[in-house]
Amino acid sequence: MGLNWRYLAHEVRPEYLREALAGARRMNYIGLNLTVPHKVLAMDLVDVLDETAETWGAVNTVQFEGRDAKGQWRPLRDYEDAPAETRSRGFNTDADAIPRAIREDLALDLNGSKVLLLGAGGAGRTAALRLAAEGVRELWMVNRTTPKAAAIGEEIRNRYPQTNCHLGYPTGNVDLVINATSLGLAAGDCLPFEEREFPLDRAGAAFDMIYRPVETPFLRLARVCGRPAANGLAMLLYQGAKAFEIWTGQPALIGRMREALEANIYG
Ligand code: ATR
Repeated sequence: MGLNWRYLAHEVRPEYLREALAGARRMNYIGLNLTVPHKVLAMDLVDVLDETAETWGAVNTVQFEGRDAKGQWRPLRDYEDAPAETRSRGFNTDADAIPRAIREDLALDLNGSKVLLLGAGGAGRTAALRLAAEGVRELWMVNRTTPKAAAIGEEIRNRYPQTNCHLGYPTGNVDLVINATSLGLAAGDCLPFEEREFPLDRAGAAFDMIYRPVETPFLRLARVCGRPAANGLAMLLYQGAKAFEIWTGQPALIGRMREALEANIYG
């Protein structure tokens, strides 16, 4: 797109996130993405929260802004030379990517559906709230640390009363099982759920937020059970495309981004 920009990866320890954000701002970065384990932490570290970050309770995209001569805050991309006064604004582009990926990869309409969600960390929480906002009718949540799932259940009961939240495994069938735990990232990881509590043939489809490895044990089992299954590649794509649009103010070239991602991950 003719942008003389680069996207760089930096590994930052959570205790230094505040300094890293200040450093990026002082170096006049246009923006940045945050991933595990920074997304919830960053809620308190950015200067302003966009409505998306407030709604979903996590920041995965930051845009830096500068104050112009009239006192207006504008994205740094608008300036030839960055102004003295700058600040960070936190966005969430993950949440909307979840239903979009599920709709496109699994042809599933979440409105009125029954879903089993595995995991109640940062990703699990965003997914649970977004699923409820999408109109999921019955939502079961399973997490190693049950109180974390219970707290999310409570939040959903307050914010999205049309969704019935349950802790633990469903006894009947569900339309979809989602893995939002980190189990499956490392070789030799076990399944993110207890098969004797929930045989996977009770699920209509399986979605794993993990995209590397391409097929986790969870997705392999879904394939063996003959269930439609999708990994987190489309979710990664759509959250990245939205972040790109925030930074550039231009529509993302989704097709080109998908090609580059697929070449990187499958190639
Ligand atoms: P993320 O931002 O990717 O969600 P996270 O907040 O650290 O990262 O959440 C990781 C999720 O994977 C949590 O649901 C976690 O369960 P706990 O809440 O009990 O920690 C889950 N998880 C990680 N390792 C696990 C393991 N060995 N067994 C079961 N669940 C695990």
